[in-house]
Amino acid sequence: MLNWDDFHDDDTVTAPAPGQAKPAAPTPQAAPKADAEVKENAGSYEIADTDRISRAEKALDELDIAAGLEELEMGAGRVEVDDKRMINARADVNQLVPFKYDWAWQKYLDGSANHWMPQEINMNADIALWKSADGLTEDERLIVMRSLGYFSTADSLVANNLVLAVYKQITNPECRQYLLRQAFEEAIHTHAYQYCVESLSMDEGEVFNMYREVDSVARKSAWSLKHTQALGRPNFQTGTPETDQEFLRNLIGFYVVTEGIFFYCGFSQILSMGRRNKMTGVAEQFQYILRDESMHLNFGIDMINQIKIENPHLWTPQFQDEVTQMILEGTQLEIEYARDTMPRGVLGMNAAIMEEYLHFICNRRLAQIGLKEQFPGASNPFPWMSEIIDLRKEKNFFETRVTEYQVGGALSWD
Ligand SMILES: [Fe+2]
Ligand SMILES: [Fe+2]
Repeated sequence: MLNWDDFHDDDTVTAPAPGQAKPAAPTPQAAPKADAEVKENAGSYEIADTDRISRAEKALDELDIAAGLEELEMGAGRVEVDDKRMINARADVNQLVPFKYDWAWQKYLDGSANHWMPQEINMNADIALWKSADGLTEDERLIVMRSLGYFSTADSLVANNLVLAVYKQITNPECRQYLLRQAFEEAIHTHAYQYCVESLSMDEGEVFNMYREVDSVARKSAWSLKHTQALGRPNFQTGTPETDQEFLRNLIGFYVVTEGIFFYCGFSQILSMGRRNKMTGVAEQFQYILRDESMHLNFGIDMINQIKIENPHLWTPQFQDEVTQMILEGTQLEIEYARDTMPRGVLGMNAAIMEEYLHFICNRRLAQIGLKEQFPGASNPFPWMSEIIDLRKEKNFFETRVTEYQVGGALSWD
């Protein structure tokens, strides 16, 4: 249980008295100290507390806040729902309400209600199985390694794109509220993969470098990175048809392809393993991640469709053709990944069945943003995947854990 007593306020460092030896230089692991404190410790900078206060008062007197008041648009008209837009909005982005997009706010509430942490999941059975010489076949071990190898960096690519590229361009506060929730969930996912790697005593260098050492993993990561480059330019800004389309390409590249296609071979492999009572802790982590990811995907699709509604001039036949090709490229990369990770049949699956599944997923993604399906008649060979995605949080798929995350319930005020 977390207790307020765990937080200490007596860890300030005082300057050494004259003649006293300076404290040893902090080790690389030590928490960095505030600038003023460091200077004091060096003995070259001294200032009385009273001087600090008078300097702060003087600085406020001299502060030219006109620029800040201009930024706030003092006395400007109050936010009208009709002024709110996904991109290029004029309405104040600092005011959450009045809501325009109830779907965005609802997803923020739903995502928060699904909160979980990797350490809550028991990994003991996985550790025993992973360490035993004949617990898993070589093909099963390959799937576990490749999955952790791809996902351990893929969620960082998604998080970085979200925070460094997408967030700034979305001009709607309720969508930004969900983006902040999603960003934290991506951090939890990367934590979960790290937790699996650490629990199983894997070579972390091998796992975390797989996205630039193993071809089938690297090609997917490189494809995603290519679609974040344009928005990574410091002066990128939506507002012209060209830049607005560039932004849509990014959303489709990340939400529809990376989170909506690239995750699905690895997820179904690991979850199939869990259904066979193998690596149930890893599978449970993936199960919670998949539930989060399906919400990220649906949020991205809602954003893309709303931008289309508000900016129909962007959705030209040529652009639709280009986007369809992007989704087909992603599907093909995922099929290549399936072939690489399943050289033979394993866990009741093989590369050909996975190809059928990915054609089905590809059709779904195209239809979700209003594009024509490219693999008519493709069916879903893994209907149990849909059951897992729709899982209620109270009941665990593997029956290993029944949980209700207690928001704030662990804090003690005594
Ligand atoms: Fe994620
Ligand atoms: Fe995600």
